[in-house]
Amino acid sequence: MSVVHLVLFSGLLSLVIAVSSSPGSRSILRDIGGGNADQKDKAVELNTTNFDSVLRDTPAKYAVVEFFAHWCPACRNYKPHYEKVARLFNGPDAIHPGMVLMTRVDCAMKTNTKLCDKFSISHYPMLFWGPPSKFVSGSWEPKKEKSEILVIDDGRTADRLLDWINKQIGSSYRLDDKKFENEHVLSNITNYEQISQAVYDIEEATAEAFDIILSHKAIKSSETSASFVRFIQLLAAHHLSRRCRKGAAEILVNYDDICPSGKCSYEESGGKDTLGNFPICGKDVPRGYYMFCRGSKNDTRGFSCGLWVLFHSLSVKIEDGESHFAFTTICDFVNNFFMCDECRLHFNDMCLSVKTPFKKARDFVLWVWSTHNKVNERLMKDEASLSTGDPKFPKIIWPPKELCPSCYLSSDQKKIEWDHDHVYKFLKNYYGPKLVSVYKEKSVIGSKEETNIATEDLTVATNALVVPIGAALAIAIASCAFGALACYWRTQQKNRKPRRSWN
Ligand SMILES: Cc1cc2nc3c(=O)[nH]c(=O)nc-3n(C[C@H](O)[C@H](O)[C@H](O)COP(=O)(O)OP(=O)(O)OC[C@H]3O[C@@H](n4cnc5c(N)ncnc54)[C@H](O)[C@@H]3O)c2cc1C
Ligand SMILES: *[C@@H]1O[C@H](CO)[C@@H](O)[C@H](O)[C@H]1NC(C)=O
Ligand SMILES: *[C@@H]1O[C@H](CO)[C@@H](O)[C@H](O)[C@H]1NC(C)=O
Ligand SMILES: *[C@@H]1O[C@H](CO)[C@@H](O)[C@H](O)[C@H]1NC(C)=O
Repeated sequence: MSVVHLVLFSGLLSLVIAVSSSPGSRSILRDIGGGNADQKDKAVELNTTNFDSVLRDTPAKYAVVEFFAHWCPACRNYKPHYEKVARLFNGPDAIHPGMVLMTRVDCAMKTNTKLCDKFSISHYPMLFWGPPSKFVSGSWEPKKEKSEILVIDDGRTADRLLDWINKQIGSSYRLDDKKFENEHVLSNITNYEQISQAVYDIEEATAEAFDIILSHKAIKSSETSASFVRFIQLLAAHHLSRRCRKGAAEILVNYDDICPSGKCSYEESGGKDTLGNFPICGKDVPRGYYMFCRGSKNDTRGFSCGLWVLFHSLSVKIEDGESHFAFTTICDFVNNFFMCDECRLHFNDMCLSVKTPFKKARDFVLWVWSTHNKVNERLMKDEASLSTGDPKFPKIIWPPKELCPSCYLSSDQKKIEWDHDHVYKFLKNYYGPKLVSVYKEKSVIGSKEETNIATEDLTVATNALVVPIGAALAIAIASCAFGALACYWRTQQKNRKPRRSWN
């Protein structure tokens, strides 16, 4: 309860604030740590070490790479032009986030020589355009035709560079665009493909939820501590994003040091064993914006949308034996850590109305879906009368017929009759394979078969090599709720403790 008392919200207006202002708390944290953020370059500085990984992991559809040399005066004069365009696309304050990643490589750095050679850099600055993945381990030669990497031949000023980009992607961006005007949001809800963008939002929402817990020091009792651990276990086992699974597992392994008897230390720097030093989805997340969940106004959608998508994506990965644990874990998480009073209370009522434990994963998937629809139904009315909703994303009973015709047995105006088998099938695919389809080849996502690899990764990452994997897994399977992986790390943690005290 104390969690809630700390941030007292009431009524719908404050709900909207609660749901949308959380990025604020994060930027406050960042501003303290990061110095003067406004003067930072927006273009991302790349080098041999991070070139491939940044371009592989970016959610952006296109990338611009500028090869320059820091001693070249023309490059220095060009920089403000390049930055003016980068400001539109890069960083948490981007006007059009997630479209184009603007980067630069300093070829005057010795370590970058090979990289610059691979792109046959003949003058400075030299600009390239292409899908980010094509740059990964990529190269460019002047004579090679049919390359998906293009040289930007006319980008001498900010205006001309933006014109060139506009021509490539058929957009009409302008240098003086303002955030949330002239918006390119994904407002076509009947487009089945769009969910694949939500992979990034799931990471974003996970990191944002974690940030909110940090900034409110929300783990306050043994009860909230247990609830937090269960949620982190659920993430370690079933989060779609590999780096979030990894981050979650690292928190589990170190939890007894970070939060001895449920009393956590939070600070981002200083001593090593603090929550702030374990970013749940790695240090590159949160990015500060949403894609699938981006609203057409500055205070709609975002985090709460991302949280729903996270819950749905977790639900479809749950197995029968875990379904009731998953249910109570999500209920407790919302109750303890979703700091929107109205949401929390309504959701808790719906949790309490479940009288018999879930036995089938299918029932749990459908419960999350129908609960979400109950929220939609209620908000439909509220938002119509208060016009607090997002005009481009009116609440609907979901999925609409256009998205899943076979989900409907019949529907008259008042009552929809669902074909639950088809709804289940649809959800499994939409929040499973479809959600990860576009970015499957990127390292962000890991498939089921990767579990073993992830285990190895983590072993290295945490120096926790005490228990042979086979034995630990056997213990984990016998005693744990969420998959072997999550509990394996709990076991590792226990074994790690005595070793520590010897040092
Ligand atoms: C646990 C929880 C409780 C909430 N309770 C409240 C509340 O009481 N009052 C309040 O004002 N706001 C509440 N919210 C916020 C609200 O539900 C929306 O998240 C917010 O208004 C943003 O809406 P949205 O248009 O982005 O769509 P969201 O409702 O956030 O949905 C995100 C996306 O999920 C898909 N979707 C929609 N319905 C379903 C479904 N039934 N099954 C599967 N997928 C679906 C759609 O693609 C949609 O765009 C709650 C949020 C959460 C996570
Ligand atoms: C590359 O850039 C990153 C981030 O700025 C930095 O941490 C790293 O040391 C750089 N590597 C080299 C080889 O310069
Ligand atoms: C929305 O997307 C669907 C499927 O891609 C398409 O058929 C439909 O024409 C689109 N609607 C609008 C208004 O763009
Ligand atoms: C949203 O935009 C409005 C008008 O543009 C502005 O007054 C308000 O402060 C903004 N809110 C946030 C949270 O940025």
